[in-house]
Amino acid sequence: MKPFSRELFGSRFGVLMALAGSAIGLGNLWRFPYLTAQNGGAAFILIYIVLLLLVSIPTMITEYLIGRRSRTSIILTPNRLGHPKMKFIGIFAIISAICVMGFYNVVGGWTIKYLTSSIMLQFGSDTADYAGQFSEYISSPYMPLIHTFIFTGLIAFISFKGVKKGIEKASKIITPTLFIATVLIAIRAITLPGAYEGLKYLLVPDFSKVSIDTIQNALGQGFFTLGLGAGTILIYGSYTKSDENITNSSISTAALDLFFAIVAGIAIIPAIFAISYANGSTPTLDAGPQLVFVTLPSVFASMPFGDIVAILFFFSLALAALTSAMSIFESITAFIIDVTEKSRDKAVYIGYLICLIPATFCSLSQGVLSDVRILGLNIFDLLDMLSANVFMTLASLFLLIFAGWILKKEDIIDELSNHGKATTPMWILNTVYILIKYVAPLGVAAIFTYWLLF
Ligand code: PFF
Repeated sequence: MKPFSRELFGSRFGVLMALAGSAIGLGNLWRFPYLTAQNGGAAFILIYIVLLLLVSIPTMITEYLIGRRSRTSIILTPNRLGHPKMKFIGIFAIISAICVMGFYNVVGGWTIKYLTSSIMLQFGSDTADYAGQFSEYISSPYMPLIHTFIFTGLIAFISFKGVKKGIEKASKIITPTLFIATVLIAIRAITLPGAYEGLKYLLVPDFSKVSIDTIQNALGQGFFTLGLGAGTILIYGSYTKSDENITNSSISTAALDLFFAIVAGIAIIPAIFAISYANGSTPTLDAGPQLVFVTLPSVFASMPFGDIVAILFFFSLALAALTSAMSIFESITAFIIDVTEKSRDKAVYIGYLICLIPATFCSLSQGVLSDVRILGLNIFDLLDMLSANVFMTLASLFLLIFAGWILKKEDIIDELSNHGKATTPMWILNTVYILIKYVAPLGVAAIFTYWLLF
């Protein structure tokens, strides 16, 4: 086995940008605004924050501290920490990562296509059939596949360059750019006449819309957005210096991610309302591909300076997808490097091929393979469902049990306190430990059971 030393991130800012880049992704742009608007606005955000503090952030801290303590990828972590029988946790996490890469890279490919179309000013007509254009594009056998290969190739290219010169450097440029672009879109959206109604719909609390499903959605969103249970936080943790405060940087990542998601909501929902009112139609809210590739192009087409907003939006979408996919790819590549002891270059080639297999099936499942159904779902939706609801959840649950019930409390506190050197008060570390040991695993087990039963 390789020694504990490995290439590390160079700066605190770099670590934060890499973690935030992994967290901020398609989920922030196409799911969070929709969930917030449909589940009682600020009421949803409040529940989301409570669940972040009780469950998602403690789970993130767990993955992070285990990664830093073991300084290896998730499959070898239990070995390194003296519990080889727990190896199965890594298998769940790597399966999660491969499943997510399957559909994520395909959507990443679509963002490249829509970015190029917006640059070529193809979203100018408010009467165009954007739904028809989108379904024609995604169901074609070649173009989306070529875009997927290009998108995955970009990630592989960054990964070739390594931790500091690749991941860290790219994150330090991309994550702030993404922020600025989204803030600009939000400013355009709220200055449209009629945007205020949308802003109210997005943000004013309405507790009558809160149900058990709201809680499940809030917890599920927290998990997916922080990318828990796919080995990404663990691998980034393994590249982090030992004086980095794990608790602080986890909280900062979750806060930046939430802030970005709210700005994305402000960029999207008021624009939809404003344009619908201007056209005399009722605003339609969707989540997922329908929202970003169908509804929004027609909104941009009706908006003053819409061409520029469209370019900015698809640019943001592509960047958000890129930094998230980069972290998942790193989880897979580092796994190959640590297990086979191959060079990074070789591991990147292998990782690229491994990612393209499920991605090819996901892409074709929108067209020629659309009749292939498993559990009633096409391959794209199946991988989405299995990763988010089964593999990421179970890997996180096992990691929490591993940290809280198998590793020693002294070791956890030792890692959280940077071997006693961090200034975090002891009561905070003890509270984090209680959350890791009792509260977070119960929360995760509850969502999993609720999902299984309903
Ligand atoms: N956080 C990303 C998003 O919100 O789109 C998705 C993601 C990143 C999932 C990293 C899983 C992962 F490991």
